[in-house]
Amino acid sequence: MNKEPIILGIESSCDDTSAAILKGKKILSNEIANQEVHTIYGGVVPELASRAHQQNIIPVVDTAIKKANIKKEDIDAVAFTNGPGLLGSLLVGSSFGKSFALGMNIPMITVNHMQGHILAHFIDEGKVIPTFPFLCLTVSGGHTQIVKVKSTNSMEIIGTTIDDAAGEAFDKSAKLLGLPYPGGPLIDKYALKGNIDAFKFGKPKVNDLDFSFSGLKTSILYKIQNNIQKNPKFIKENIEDLCASIQHSIVTILIEKLEKAILKTGIKELAIAGGVSANSYLRNELKLLSQKKSYKLHIPKFEYCTDNAAMIAIAGYFKYLDNDFAKQCETPRASLTF
Ligand code: KG4
Ligand code: ZN
Repeated sequence: MNKEPIILGIESSCDDTSAAILKGKKILSNEIANQEVHTIYGGVVPELASRAHQQNIIPVVDTAIKKANIKKEDIDAVAFTNGPGLLGSLLVGSSFGKSFALGMNIPMITVNHMQGHILAHFIDEGKVIPTFPFLCLTVSGGHTQIVKVKSTNSMEIIGTTIDDAAGEAFDKSAKLLGLPYPGGPLIDKYALKGNIDAFKFGKPKVNDLDFSFSGLKTSILYKIQNNIQKNPKFIKENIEDLCASIQHSIVTILIEKLEKAILKTGIKELAIAGGVSANSYLRNELKLLSQKKSYKLHIPKFEYCTDNAAMIAIAGYFKYLDNDFAKQCETPRASLTF
């Protein structure tokens, strides 16, 4: 049998610079440099993100190689995210990947970021992996999709958001509450002690399997504005209940559509992926639902929920097996789909 390929994965689509080394389906290292620079701006500033990627990329790759205890000559292929994402950010990782492939005379592989999130489930860590076909609720800062995953290289988006993504809904709601970016994890934290029924917000009416979150944001804004007029300390005094109610609204929208997709497709094998899949309430509610309805549910490890290069490396591994290599003329695309 041929030796297991060693893949260098690179992720730079948004505000995390990450490099991972994968041997076969096993992770040898997974380095991530977060960018603190955006916190004071309340969101990712694209120009600052691409500059930070430029500073981080070489040290992050160097550390990943050292921690994996390999030499750069041992790497068989380099896989990098070529979209969707911020173009300036994608350009840093893809330019590095292309140069590395050229310099080392090895093949390169382009990876769709959202497919990377989904394929993170196949990283070998002794866990039960999903069987095909399965439905993946892919929820991040930029996307909200229900994906019918037929194989590692055949996926169909059967539902998507018509406006904001679920992560955006978390982050924008958090901003309305005066919480720093990214607000999703903070809402999760405060919600632990809150009452999910304390506040009610408008529910979107969207056809079929699509999502909408912009109405919810407006509903939250009005609720806060009305209450602050009566009590200037409204947010501070109700932060836990507000977070629990907002989180409950977002998660309910996600789960209702996922259930609709299960009914429509008859597929009862489920997975979640993307940054929002780190949300404890979403994870728990889906676990309870799956127990009740005998669905098979796959939940990623926390470290593979938010952006990381291990997921890009595993997606690269499957393309490597398919001999699906990219050429030097490849360019990243901000709104890449599949
Ligand atoms: O996948 P990701 O790291 O980056 C993108 O591809 O966008 O997702 C980032 C998103 C952010 O909106 C962040 O607030 C959200 O994931 N997020 C969470 C949690 N952890 C990260 N949202 C809710 N609860 C969490 N625990
Ligand atoms: Zn992501």
